[in-house]
Amino acid sequence: MSSTIDSVLIENRVFPPSAEMVRQANISGMDAYRALCAEAEADLEGFWARYARSELAWHKPFTKTLDESNAPFYRWFHDGELNASYNCLDRHLATQPDKTAIIFEADDGKVTTITYKALYHDVCRFANALKGKGIKSGDRVLIYMPMSIEAAVAMQACARIGATHSVVFGGFSAKSIHERIIDAGAIAVITADGQYRGGREIPLKPVVDEAFAMGDCDGVKNVIVYKRTGSPVAMKAGRDMWWSDAVKGQADTCEPTWVGAEHPLFLLYTSGSTGKPKGVQHSTGGYLLLAQLTMKWTFDYKPTDIFWCTADVGWVTGHTYIVYGPLACGATEIMFEGVPTYPDAGRFWKMIQDHRVTVFYTAPTAIRSLIKAGGDLPKKYDLSSLRILGSVGEPINPEAWMWYYETVGRSRCPIVDTWWQTETGGHMINPLPGATPLKPGSCTFPLPGIIADIVDETGRTVEFGKGGMLVMKRPWPSMIRTIWGDPERFRKTYFPEDFHGKYYLAGDGASRDTEGYIRIMGRIDDVLNVSGHRLGTMEVESALVANPLVAEAAVVGRPDELTGEAICAFVVLKQTRPSAADAERIAKELRDWVGKEIGPIAKPREIRFGENLPKTRSGKIMRRLLRSLAKGEVITQDTSTLENPAILEQLKHVS
Ligand code: WTA
Repeated sequence: MSSTIDSVLIENRVFPPSAEMVRQANISGMDAYRALCAEAEADLEGFWARYARSELAWHKPFTKTLDESNAPFYRWFHDGELNASYNCLDRHLATQPDKTAIIFEADDGKVTTITYKALYHDVCRFANALKGKGIKSGDRVLIYMPMSIEAAVAMQACARIGATHSVVFGGFSAKSIHERIIDAGAIAVITADGQYRGGREIPLKPVVDEAFAMGDCDGVKNVIVYKRTGSPVAMKAGRDMWWSDAVKGQADTCEPTWVGAEHPLFLLYTSGSTGKPKGVQHSTGGYLLLAQLTMKWTFDYKPTDIFWCTADVGWVTGHTYIVYGPLACGATEIMFEGVPTYPDAGRFWKMIQDHRVTVFYTAPTAIRSLIKAGGDLPKKYDLSSLRILGSVGEPINPEAWMWYYETVGRSRCPIVDTWWQTETGGHMINPLPGATPLKPGSCTFPLPGIIADIVDETGRTVEFGKGGMLVMKRPWPSMIRTIWGDPERFRKTYFPEDFHGKYYLAGDGASRDTEGYIRIMGRIDDVLNVSGHRLGTMEVESALVANPLVAEAAVVGRPDELTGEAICAFVVLKQTRPSAADAERIAKELRDWVGKEIGPIAKPREIRFGENLPKTRSGKIMRRLLRSLAKGEVITQDTSTLENPAILEQLKHVS
């Protein structure tokens, strides 16, 4: 049996960058890209050392670039010393103190801006407050904050004193906070009374209290609470303190704590194949290098840019492309508290118009939901400031790609479809806007210095046109260092013995077309095997979404006696959810459609219609729930992170 994954979706359209984009780009043209790749391949250490020296400000220069003696626990620049907050703030003070660092737009539309100088002083004051509470280098601090300037201040202040932050997304439950406080051994929590999203007030501090009530959190000696909503919250004397009181009287300068390049800047928990989330540990030097460099490579950063990454700071995208990358570059960036559909589905477009956004970075799921909610809305706004569009988090299907390209970017703006992971720290595989000819649905080629490949189970490179497992054959500076408290799990998960412990296994299936363009086919565990044919769930989804009736689709496998696995599709139509009689007719139409798009093998056995799909608040579809539903199981799993738990009931039954 073939050990490779059949790639059956062919995309032929190619969109080269405009001459103007190439002319002004930081990496200008494919020859420049190839030259950098060749430089890195010839001397990987020399390549990264060159950038580490030119991009970052070191307190003590490093003498050794890469230490492989304890692989896969690689160390980069380890005898060098620096401070991430210094790199993001202090070094801009002399050159651009009055430049706006963050433009914050609240849920209700209120705009607050802060300059680099003011942000620096806020971070210093808050860092001094943390120090005053005895928090020091190496301590873990849990952050559970709304999208706010203060969230960035809290993270930067931790970095300034060498404390390792562990941000928990504001949509996570008390149980998640509890688990993370204990796993990380956090000694302090920074939170807010609540937050606003889509006109609704959502409590935060009460959720932290609930986590404490679960017990075993005595290690937390201090809780600092930022007042956002003003709703009453319980404050425990001796432990809890308002943010405004904590910073009162603090000096507005604070000497940064110099740390080794390998010092853990942050932990960020992410789900794995077991129930227990993994505390992904990142370094200071290598992480910051990629954060800053990819701003310049992927987003072609220019000092005049207004950069907007719509992610939440609770995810890695918010860490790298809101809190660290843009500030390290000295950029002006947008931070947004609310949701894309409030007060209406034109919110993103209005904000791009109002703030003259030049680089816009969002997720395919947001794009698809905005197509459904108002595919013509972007046309009502002046989006002429835009020059580059970005996509992250999941494969973007060619139809959404085309809409993004034509309707949002007006066929002027390259789309950088960025493949990366919490574990990779920064971008890994994506187009360069002034170099790479684009193909919808492809994240194109690895960045210079990223030695990616697609291999079969024996570690052999698969030929072009075939699919396999995405691996990194060499370490890179911003890679995960370990899983907090569980180095063995780190080794087993990412550097399995199958590849002699040498390759980083991304956990994604991918394929290359005849020109080497990479397409991500979804998680390896989302790859289906139907009658001996392996199919990426995303390929079937993409085919479904290409049908004019379909707004969104998620596909999972369920065990089937005859065919190994059967495809079960959960579909949201552009029109309202169909009646039982209509459902049957439309399901047949869609089955035939997929049969034509990909082949009869990919026809979903079953199609269920819902008004929506079960999603986390960050917009990721909860596939494990869909798999349970497809199998007809009773849902016993934790659904507290779902945006819309009621949808499960609707999807339980075949319409
Ligand atoms: C998926 C988000 C296709 C992939 C930065 C990966 C993508 C996982 C893309 C990591 C993309 C991310 N195209 N798939 N451009 N970007 N993914 O850790 O399956 O939240 O392994 O990091 O998202 O998700 P994570």
